[in-house]
Amino acid sequence: EKGGYDHFMMKEIYEQPSVIKDTYRGRLHANEGLIKMAGIDDNIERFSNAQRILIVACGTSWHAGLVAEYIFEEFARIPVEVEYASEFRYRNPIINDKDVLIAISQSGETADTLAAIKLAKEKGAFVFGVCNVVGSSISRETHAGAYTHAGPEIGVASTKAFTTQITVLTMIALRLAKLKGTLSNSDYHRYLSELEMIPEKVQEALQTNEVTKQIASVYKDAQNCLYLGRGYNFPVALEGALKLKEISYIHAEGYPAAEMKHGPIALIDEQMPVVVIAPKQGHYDKVVSNIQEIKSRSGKIIAVVTKGDEQVRALADHVIEVPETSDALSPLLTTIPLQLLSYHIAVMRGCNVDQPRNLAKSVTVE
Ligand code: F6R
Repeated sequence: EKGGYDHFMMKEIYEQPSVIKDTYRGRLHANEGLIKMAGIDDNIERFSNAQRILIVACGTSWHAGLVAEYIFEEFARIPVEVEYASEFRYRNPIINDKDVLIAISQSGETADTLAAIKLAKEKGAFVFGVCNVVGSSISRETHAGAYTHAGPEIGVASTKAFTTQITVLTMIALRLAKLKGTLSNSDYHRYLSELEMIPEKVQEALQTNEVTKQIASVYKDAQNCLYLGRGYNFPVALEGALKLKEISYIHAEGYPAAEMKHGPIALIDEQMPVVVIAPKQGHYDKVVSNIQEIKSRSGKIIAVVTKGDEQVRALADHVIEVPETSDALSPLLTTIPLQLLSYHIAVMRGCNVDQPRNLAKSVTVE
């Protein structure tokens, strides 16, 4: 049942190349320059009239929402707000019939997300679901939606649900960009073909298994860990930290790299491993200076870089290489070694990887 792996989590991490393909199959037509998604196409007016998009979710799904915020705003130039479902539902939010609300949930049963949906519907918003579990409460309660097709996720720590959610949300952003003409033709086509190549590149990113295992053996007894990223990779830092907390019980925090100097830098000493997500696009030079700040305070640097990177390699204690892709799609690759790193650390610490203490796969209580 675990397909030869020791844990469901590992099986699910390794399934990502194939499930991402399942997610875009029949929807992404890179050669024709088309995205076909029934849930969007059937409601295209609601999306084209949307003055903003609200995204509600919890946990890892909320992190996928944050990645989507960067992608939607960049590709489709629609203002996006991402909210924790639990906060949204209890603060008398301002919503109207011009709003589109996207609810993201692997299980489709999360109580707070479900309640947020009901509230948004009462206020006239159009509610779209991005769920994994077919026929789940959230998939039934929403006006329309798109399934992630990741297959059953058994490990409590979410892995393949996250990358397939980002895949669906990226396709929606591209569909809306096409509708609104907000991306140049060449960028639009480039993103489509880059997305099509992601499964192969995820496969390649899985080859970081050995190096992450070796890094895990160095830091398995750490008491704290910091994760830093910027732009599209800031939410990846949050997700990396959440993964480590959940399954290894090491205290970890994700931060936007530039915020470090506003507080967390005080934590840095030779005991502090800092995972920096530094692919070679976007804010690369800025991240390099952040790495220098950590180094000059003796922090230990574990950097996730683009294959062939030399500059960060010269500064970091450890590097993990992922294939090159466009900046907006890089979270799909940079996430992979972070999943593996927390997996190996948790295993080495003797933790119950698939069923961490105090956690449940679906949170049906508020
Ligand atoms: C993280 C994790 C949780 C869930 C959260 C939302 O690994 O499993 O943070 O992401 O409880 O669950 P869904 O997506 O089912 O609404």
